[in-house]
Amino acid sequence: MGRPSFGRAEGPRTGDRQPLPVLRHPLASDMRDAVLHPPQAAPARYRHFRLTPLSGALGAEIDGVDLANLSDAAFHEIERAVADHLVLAFRDQALDPADQIAFARRFGPVAPWPYARPMEDYPELMELVSGPGDINNFGGAWHTDSSTFERPPAYTLLYCVSTPPVGGDTSYANQYLAWDTLPDGVRAALDGLRLEHSTAKSFGDHARAKGSAAVTTTPVSVPPGHEGLVSVHPVGRTHPVTGRKALYVNTGFSSNFEGRTEAESRPLMDALAAHGAIPEFTCRVRWRPGALVVWDNRCTLHYAHNDYRGHPRIMRRAVVEGERPV
Ligand code: SIN
Repeated sequence: MGRPSFGRAEGPRTGDRQPLPVLRHPLASDMRDAVLHPPQAAPARYRHFRLTPLSGALGAEIDGVDLANLSDAAFHEIERAVADHLVLAFRDQALDPADQIAFARRFGPVAPWPYARPMEDYPELMELVSGPGDINNFGGAWHTDSSTFERPPAYTLLYCVSTPPVGGDTSYANQYLAWDTLPDGVRAALDGLRLEHSTAKSFGDHARAKGSAAVTTTPVSVPPGHEGLVSVHPVGRTHPVTGRKALYVNTGFSSNFEGRTEAESRPLMDALAAHGAIPEFTCRVRWRPGALVVWDNRCTLHYAHNDYRGHPRIMRRAVVEGERPV
């Protein structure tokens, strides 16, 4: 990746705090060094399905497996594949809500998501409906799911019920690549730093001021006890399965560095968020009814494209509990 420049913020220091590093994000037109996430070019051999990588950064399509009738051996291969490729898109499934929950439970406990009404009879599932009159969409900013939680979800499983005639894709970005390609000095300076992730920023007054809360068919609201929810997580988190470090910053929920105001934090936070989403780190999934995508929230960001105005889109979402980021 082209080396973003690195310096130290000017200005008075407060107490004994170190100044935050300055990361000048290269413009989109800058030349960048080539990147590759190695498993994308040399996937492992799998006996239970065919796997086709989606880009050099992350993501794979999986064919030839029925998620409603899955052997343990096939599931172990899926665990290996998601650790290697971070996002798996299973095609041509026919999953009812109980099938989706059963598949999600193989990854770990499935938690209801308290910010939206669950599906009737299926508290672990949320139906994510975009109506033809919607202006905003759910998930239309680069984010990782619920980083405001003390233990954010490890995996999300999204199943496509119906798509617009065109558009409504989801993009993903590999945050191992984002971490690895930061300048050495920035990585070193970030190593001890932690970020606050705030519910108010996303779903509270801040979001309402932007007009985003009221204009989607799927009502999202903050339940009692969650209004002031803030969790503090490391900027670089270590993945519990792969042992690799990933950048853990997102425009959806990150509000400020611990002990800093939002204004102090914003330049570096925005530069890191922009760095995490550069095109070379991404892949894009085109949905068809019957597709199920599972992604690992600990090392990816995702972004729901809002380019199907006037048309409906229906998905079902389950999230698998995760651990406290370290
Ligand atoms: C999400 O952000 O969890 C949903 C993404 C999508 O609907 O594509």
